[in-house]
Amino acid sequence: MIAITLGTRPEIIKMAPIIRECEQQDIDYFLIHSGQHYSFEMDQTFFDELQLPRPHYNLNAGSGTHAWQTGKIMAGVEKVLLENPPDLILVQGDTNTVLAAALAASKLQHAIGHVEAGLRCFDRRLPEEINRVVTDHISDYLFAPTTKAVGNLRDEGIDESKIHLTGNTIVDAIYQNLQISCGGYDVAQKLGLQPGEYFLVTFHRPENVDSRATFSELMNGLNAIHDEFSLPVVFPMHPRTKKQMTATGLSPGSIHSIDPVGYLEFLQLEAGARCILTDSGGIQEESCILGIPCVTVRQNTERPETLLVGANVLSNVSCAEIVKKTQEILARGSGWVNPFGDGTAARNIVNILDHSG
Ligand code: UD1
Ligand code: UDP
Repeated sequence: MIAITLGTRPEIIKMAPIIRECEQQDIDYFLIHSGQHYSFEMDQTFFDELQLPRPHYNLNAGSGTHAWQTGKIMAGVEKVLLENPPDLILVQGDTNTVLAAALAASKLQHAIGHVEAGLRCFDRRLPEEINRVVTDHISDYLFAPTTKAVGNLRDEGIDESKIHLTGNTIVDAIYQNLQISCGGYDVAQKLGLQPGEYFLVTFHRPENVDSRATFSELMNGLNAIHDEFSLPVVFPMHPRTKKQMTATGLSPGSIHSIDPVGYLEFLQLEAGARCILTDSGGIQEESCILGIPCVTVRQNTERPETLLVGANVLSNVSCAEIVKKTQEILARGSGWVNPFGDGTAARNIVNILDHSG
C-alpha cells in the first residue's frame, strides 16, 4: 500500500502519471492531499482534466507562514499514517507539503520515496532548497530524474543503494497529454494567439514578486519584451502574484494577464509560444521538452540540464537584461535533446517499488 502525497499544482501534475501507473498495475494506493493549494484553478481543475481519483484524505492546510503550514501538514499526515499505515509514503518535488509529509513519516519510521530527488540550486536562501535537502536525507528511495541529480546525491554521501535514475514524470505527463491538449482545446484561439507569435510568461517566486521594486522592474521587462517584438505577452497569473499585483497597485501595462489555466490549456499555450519567460521549476523543464526557448528570471536554477542543452538561459531582474537574454536565446534556435527521460519515469518508479516487496 502506497500513500501518495500531493498538495500543490506541480505535485498534482507530476504525480498524475504515477497514479495512472498504479491503477494500470493494480497497485494499492491512497491519496493524501495537504490542501496547500486549494483554489479551483490551482487544484480541482487538474483532478478533473487528468481524470484523477478524489483524494482519500484532504488535510485542508491552506496558506500561512512556512512553520505554520509545515506544522499543520505534519500533524495531518501523522494522523493519517497512524490510522491507516501504508508500506511506503511517496512525495514529489520540493514544496512545504513534501517536507512536512516526509518528516511526519520519518518520525513514525515509515519508508519514504522521493520523486524528483537530487535537484540542487545550491542556494539555501530558497525554502525549496531546504525542503529538497532534508527530504532527500530522510528518504529511503531517491528517484533522481537525471544523472546530474544522481551526482548531487552521491556528492552528499547518500547511500548508493537508495538512488535510482528514473527520468522525470513531467515527460510522461507531456507525452500523455500533449495531443489531447493541442487537438481538443481552443485556449490559444480564444485569446487570439497565432502559433509562434506570442510570449508566454509565469512568475510566482517570492524573490521576484514579493518586493514592489523588484516586481515593478520585472513588469517593466515584460512590457519591454512586448514593445521590442511587437507581440502579445500572455501571463496566466499565480494567486500569489495576483495578490501582490493588487497590494502593490502595479499596472500590467501591455501584458495580457489572465487567471491560471488548466494543464491541457497551459500545455497548448507553451507548445505554441515563441519563447517562455518564467521563474517556475516545472516550466523550465516543459519548455525544454517541448523545444521552446526559455528565459528563467532567477539567479540560479536547480534544473541546470536545461542550460547545458541550450534550451534555457538565466536572467537577472533588470528590464535591459530580460530583453537582452530573450534576444540571445531566440538567436540560438532550438534542436536540443530533452535531458529528462523518455516518458517511462512513472513505470520505472512503480516497478522499483513493486519489486522491493
Ligand atoms: C508553493 C511552493 C513553491 C511552488 C509553488 C507551485 C513552498 C514553500 N512553495 O508556492 O515551491 O513552486 O507552490 O505553484 O511550498 N494561494 C491561493 N490559492 C491557492 C494557493 C495559494 O490564493 O490555491 C495564495 C495565498 O494567498 C497564499 C499564496 O498564494 O498565501 C502563496 O501560496 P503558498 O502555497 O504558500 O506558496 P506558493 O507561492 O504557491
Ligand atoms: N501550469 C498550469 N497552468 C498555469 C500555469 C502553470 O497548468 O496557468 C502548470 C505547468 O504546466 C507546470 C506546473 O503548472 O506543469 C508548474 O507549476 P508552478 O510553476 O506553479 O510550480 P513549480 O514548478 O515552479 O514548482
